[in-house]
Amino acid sequence: MMEKETYANGQKVYELQDGKLTYFFKDGKVKSKGPFEKDQMEGEWTFYRATGQLWQVGNFKMASNTGAGSGTIRKTSWSTTKYLKREKSKNRLKGRTMDTYTLSNGVKMPVLGYGMWRNKNPKEAVQGVIDAISVGFRHIDGAAAYQNEELVGQGIKESGIAREELFLTSKLKNDAHGDDWQTDNLETWQAFEELYDEGVLKAIGVSNFSVEHLENLVNHARIKPMVNQLLVHPGVLQTETRDYCTKHGILIQAYSPLKPLSVLKEEARVQKMLEKYDKSIAQLLLRFDLQVGVVPLTKSVHRERIEENFDIFDFEIDDEDMQYLKEWSHPEFTEPDNKNERPPQVS
Ligand SMILES: NC(=O)c1ccc[n+]([C@@H]2O[C@H](COP(=O)([O-])OP(=O)(O)OC[C@H]3O[C@@H](n4cnc5c(N)ncnc54)[C@H](OP(=O)(O)O)[C@@H]3O)[C@@H](O)[C@H]2O)c1
Repeated sequence: MMEKETYANGQKVYELQDGKLTYFFKDGKVKSKGPFEKDQMEGEWTFYRATGQLWQVGNFKMASNTGAGSGTIRKTSWSTTKYLKREKSKNRLKGRTMDTYTLSNGVKMPVLGYGMWRNKNPKEAVQGVIDAISVGFRHIDGAAAYQNEELVGQGIKESGIAREELFLTSKLKNDAHGDDWQTDNLETWQAFEELYDEGVLKAIGVSNFSVEHLENLVNHARIKPMVNQLLVHPGVLQTETRDYCTKHGILIQAYSPLKPLSVLKEEARVQKMLEKYDKSIAQLLLRFDLQVGVVPLTKSVHRERIEENFDIFDFEIDDEDMQYLKEWSHPEFTEPDNKNERPPQVS
């Protein structure tokens, strides 16, 4: 009895009968024996995969515990393509260890982080942390204001990974210190320095600090900030602040790197880039920040997107495309102007 038949564009692609998988392609058919793993796909497709097999759409390669072959699958559905792309990317990510930057005090920070803002649903937040860690993230960005630090802790515990393997950020809420940005920032910073001296904090930094705010600390404090967390994406490069930070050995974490995603993906030139690099708009934006030399922080509660957002280490945006993205501007995205005010509340 036929257990399963799968068609793409009217052409039979796979059939499963008596536990044997037969798949069809242009030049004939190849038979392969089980055991089989069943993978449920999005939409109308059900896909059966022999253990250890690897399929590629287009030029077809197959390697399994039951044999090897090659050919061409000419017709396949979009969702099959997406599925196979994800499988390929999983293979690429397997066992990858994350590269790090070394902060001015010698502490290592992974070059990509998982963000916790607007991640308050307890089930999603805990699962998000578990998924991010299992995909390979070793850097989590939290804050007291996000009201989910306990959930981060729970996710880390459930992930089974040792705390020492993770770089974890927390942030002080703005209403936890005074209103005068010059004197109060300095006073708060002294408290940070003391906690750092005691070894409670492994590294200390600031967020949304412009050059003026940074100078206040650099000129008057005992220890320079090691990190400044800023908004950085095409359209908002904060070049003056970044240059100042580079000069003073302050590493930049870039928040909301995906902010221009929906606007930018409409650009014809960007669509060409996505085809050229065979990457998604999210991956292009995260890679952009990496190549600018900042540490992108990105948040998703969907496993598929978490995997996608981590899969940015196998391509490089070329100089011309980087230049285009650096020069790109849009009225919706403007450089922050907070020189003479207190740095805004961290979101
Ligand atoms: N210091 C500060 O002032 C400040 C300010 C803002 C943020 N941050 C920190 O920086 C982190 C990152 O910023 P962010 O949360 O704005 O992150 P982001 O990664 O730029 O954007 C997150 C949004 O994009 C969606 N998304 C994620 N991956 C996607 C993908 N592959 N394709 C399409 N959409 C995708 C997410 O939706 P789903 O979750 O539904 O997938 C979510 O709505 C924050 O979580 C926080 O830790 C700090």
